[in-house]
Amino acid sequence: MKASIVLLPGDGIGPEIVREAWRTLEAVAARFGHVFTMEERPIGGGAIDAFGDPLPQSTLDACRDADAILLGAVGGPKWDDPNAKTRPEAGLLSIRKELGLFANLRPITTHRQLVAASPLRPDIIDGVDILFFRELTGGIYFGKSERSDDGLTASSTMTYSTPEIERIVRLAADAARGRRGKLTSVDKANVLEVSRHWRRVAADVVSTDYPDLDYEVVLVDAMAMHLLSRPRDFDVVVTGNMFGDILTDEASMLPGSLGMLPSASLGSDGPGLYEPIHGSAPDIAGKNVANPLATILAAAMALRHSLNLEIEASTVETAVDQVLDDGLRTGDIAAGGPTVSTSEMGDAVARYVAGT
Ligand code: IPM
Ligand code: MG
Repeated sequence: MKASIVLLPGDGIGPEIVREAWRTLEAVAARFGHVFTMEERPIGGGAIDAFGDPLPQSTLDACRDADAILLGAVGGPKWDDPNAKTRPEAGLLSIRKELGLFANLRPITTHRQLVAASPLRPDIIDGVDILFFRELTGGIYFGKSERSDDGLTASSTMTYSTPEIERIVRLAADAARGRRGKLTSVDKANVLEVSRHWRRVAADVVSTDYPDLDYEVVLVDAMAMHLLSRPRDFDVVVTGNMFGDILTDEASMLPGSLGMLPSASLGSDGPGLYEPIHGSAPDIAGKNVANPLATILAAAMALRHSLNLEIEASTVETAVDQVLDDGLRTGDIAAGGPTVSTSEMGDAVARYVAGT
């Protein structure tokens, strides 16, 4: 097949890790006889420096025309001035909104080879397999937001409409059906009106169309606790934008490192956006030490969800498993043992994908 993939390396370690994912995709194309056209476009801090805009129009246009988008990370101390006109993160938020990517899938699975790298006990994390559905284009990230004229007060508003809740709950419920049949909705309905609305709408969707699911609701503070005490009890979790942001960073510690976790952002049609969960890690940028596996696994999600190439996707995932079996570890997952560089890790994955 022919597919066009836009690469958005971004800032910090972004270019290094996207380069390794690109090599993985080249290896997939060579082995399975596909033609992937991959072009790079600016986003984030680098785009602010070059164009004064964290999401230049030309980047957005290229993304709209693509079959899939692979992003590294955006942001860094250079662009952190709170009084700056714009920020790298604004590029990420705009691309999500512009492309209607309302569903952020964040799978949290532990790799048995890495249980020692987690700060949690092996008996708690062994076998964890959670799929988060974080709503991505609504809630407090996009609600009315203002600062008073005297500069003494500011507010950001959390808003959700019925259709916004319905569509994300449906996607999550469909996914739960294909997995272990359990769906957990997370809110703060004991305090927030917007959460009471979320809870009512979610319950309606599930009771009407998904009565077969094992459905529960959990308050976000309790969820923060359960994720550490009994993470194996969760299958598919659906929640709003900010709760999902926080809970998935917390959950990312279950497998031991943020460096292992991919995510997919999908809309009702058009290209999906694939990226690692972690950020731009400016402290280690340019040193060839970052873990490229999350981005490589994000490329696997792109193969699966946007290009419909299931065998190719699992080939990449198996290759990642094989390099871990071989004992290859970047610094974040080495638990003090010997380490390999970003490019050595990428080489090893590409070799397994190529079958050589
Ligand atoms: C994430 C990030 C972003 C978010 C930031 C960089 C805007 O933390 O993707 O989780 O809050 O959504
Ligand atoms: Mg986050």
